[in-house]
Amino acid sequence: MRDVRKAVIPVAGMGTRFLPATKTIPKEMLPIVDKPAIQYVVEEAVQSGIGNITFVTGRNKAGIEDYFDRDLNLENQLQEKRKGELLEIVRKIGDMITVSSIRQKQPLGLGNAVTVAEAMVGEETFGVFLGDDIITHPVPCMEQLLAAHRVVKFSVVAVRKVPWERVCRYGVVSVDPVEGKERLFRVNDLVEKPSQESAPSNLAVIGRFVLTPSIFDALRRTQRGVDGEIQLTDGLCHLLEDEPLYAYQFEGTHYDVGNKLDHLIATVEFALQREDLQEKFREYLKSLKL
Ligand code: G1P
Repeated sequence: MRDVRKAVIPVAGMGTRFLPATKTIPKEMLPIVDKPAIQYVVEEAVQSGIGNITFVTGRNKAGIEDYFDRDLNLENQLQEKRKGELLEIVRKIGDMITVSSIRQKQPLGLGNAVTVAEAMVGEETFGVFLGDDIITHPVPCMEQLLAAHRVVKFSVVAVRKVPWERVCRYGVVSVDPVEGKERLFRVNDLVEKPSQESAPSNLAVIGRFVLTPSIFDALRRTQRGVDGEIQLTDGLCHLLEDEPLYAYQFEGTHYDVGNKLDHLIATVEFALQREDLQEKFREYLKSLKL
């Protein structure tokens, strides 16, 4: 079996939850401490051995591709000013991945974004990362999914248990355990954003997927669903008609940074882990009379 080499990151969304900032800044570029949110996601891909990344973009998203490209002008300026440390940081970002992008011309949803990427992915199994989900763990979430994929050979979606009152925000799976494999499940069905009453479980799909190329045929059979969009969740239901699908309950802490509160929580927690900030920031937090 060939290694998974390619990833798709859909970034065409408007980012209405972060207006007015997202009027001109792509939501993926909003920083958590001093790194854009998308960089944490790209770093997870690279740490999982995936260095070939296609962004599925929309209007006003060119900044993301530029960010992961070399900026020789900036590098020269930093060199002249003898800012060696910054130069190294900037150069590393430009060398991190092989970057390409393809436009999603209409806002037709996540399923459509994956379809658009077919031209770049071809006949290979590939990873999908959603930029709103940042997951931290010593073993990157995608690496955990890839290990599961090597065992089952079919598509694997990342899942986590969420409080029942939050199932309506996610794709939710109905599963059976796989004998002898903790955390691994065989998927029977999926529902996009169900009500609490109709949800088949509280195992929610989080934005990491390993998908076989069969997903493209399945998506061609997928009609518009929730919010009038072509949902990847519905595409995965069609994939089930053709081949098995698995879910892996990953280990790690998940931040939905598309949500303002989670974005703030991630900012505080990541800052507390930073050697250059933690001492003073902790002191400040302790001084707050809450
Ligand atoms: C998307 C998917 C959903 C998934 C979620 C994970 O929803 O449609 O199935 O559970 O990402 O973050 P969105 O957050 O774009 O509404």
